[in-house]
Amino acid sequence: MSKELIHNVKESFKTQFHGDPLMVFSPGRINLIGEHTDYNDGFVFPAAIDLGIVLAINKSSSKTSRIYALNKKESHEIDLNQISPQKNGGWRNYVNGVIGELQKLGITIGNFNSVFAGNIPGGAGMSSSAALENSFVYGLNKLYNLGLKKKEMILISQKAEHNFVGVHCGIMDQYASMLGKKKSALFLDCRTTKSVPYKLKLKSLKLVLVNTNVKHDLSESAYNNRRAVCEKIANLLNVKSLRDTTEKSLNLIKDQISKSDYSKALYVIRENKRVKEFAKAIKKQNVKLMGDLMYKTHEGLSKNYEVSCEELDFLVETTKSMDFVYGSRMMGGGFGGCTINLVEQQNIDDFKTTTKHKFLETFGKPCTIYDVNISKGTHLIKI
Ligand code: GLA
Repeated sequence: MSKELIHNVKESFKTQFHGDPLMVFSPGRINLIGEHTDYNDGFVFPAAIDLGIVLAINKSSSKTSRIYALNKKESHEIDLNQISPQKNGGWRNYVNGVIGELQKLGITIGNFNSVFAGNIPGGAGMSSSAALENSFVYGLNKLYNLGLKKKEMILISQKAEHNFVGVHCGIMDQYASMLGKKKSALFLDCRTTKSVPYKLKLKSLKLVLVNTNVKHDLSESAYNNRRAVCEKIANLLNVKSLRDTTEKSLNLIKDQISKSDYSKALYVIRENKRVKEFAKAIKKQNVKLMGDLMYKTHEGLSKNYEVSCEELDFLVETTKSMDFVYGSRMMGGGFGGCTINLVEQQNIDDFKTTTKHKFLETFGKPCTIYDVNISKGTHLIKI
């Protein structure tokens, strides 16, 4: 958590609104394995990180609520009696969404003033959206004593994204950001929303993210399209979701569906299995197997599920000639963003230099590299 970020948000709040605000930190997330499985009621393995959103929020006695986005230097003023999705509203819709979804539950809040800023790179697949939603629902819950539990709040954040932003996301991002545990990744069953924390003792290894700095425009509609395909196939198979089926059952309807739909469903079925294998591998500290599973996931996401892109494929391929990298794969929704890499600690510098050089040489633009530090989930900042 950046002290500078906290300081800047607090100072900006004091200058604009005066008084002592409630300060909230809500983190972004990484995901070890289990991609596009959450909306199939399946398994994922995320962890909250120390990059995130800092929110300063306090009650206001005026007739409207005000939100200031410090990074963008943009303001938003809302009338709580007229909350709706805003056309091309960008970040505003995450805030409107949280308030709108609270109201749908019959929950009343009063007006507030707020300032937020973040250090999660946008479009990197590290869930800046979930961090923003969670920071507001958590802050409002505290401010107005709404009595909501963390698991109730993540559903509000997720609905905000469905109904106000238009992305039919699963629960992984909001869950990891809100309920993340220090030094641990969460083996999460997205159907029951029960998770088991696994201490990330990686001995001599480090997790490193490489950001392609690419975000493709169609990523949101393509995401919703993938979800629709999965639901269609689950319907055909007469199961609630793809989590409830097997490769064998899928093969029985192979002739009735398109090749591309078959590949996508196959990917999901196999990925759910991989997450469980990964959990066993972590327990045994079998790093070689963890890495192999990550490579297999990438291949599935790229060739079967078709959510990768040239830059991500290049980064993963490049690691194969570095014997100090155990595993690499694209992370998050896809069509750009980051790869997550399992790298021998003593070779980190070599990894960074080689990757940066090769990426620049091939694409004529830089990639960005981040070390991963696991953090706890959304919480109040004590100052
Ligand atoms: C995005 C969504 C998540 C999840 C991932 C892919 O981050 O918000 O719900 O589906 O993509 O695993």
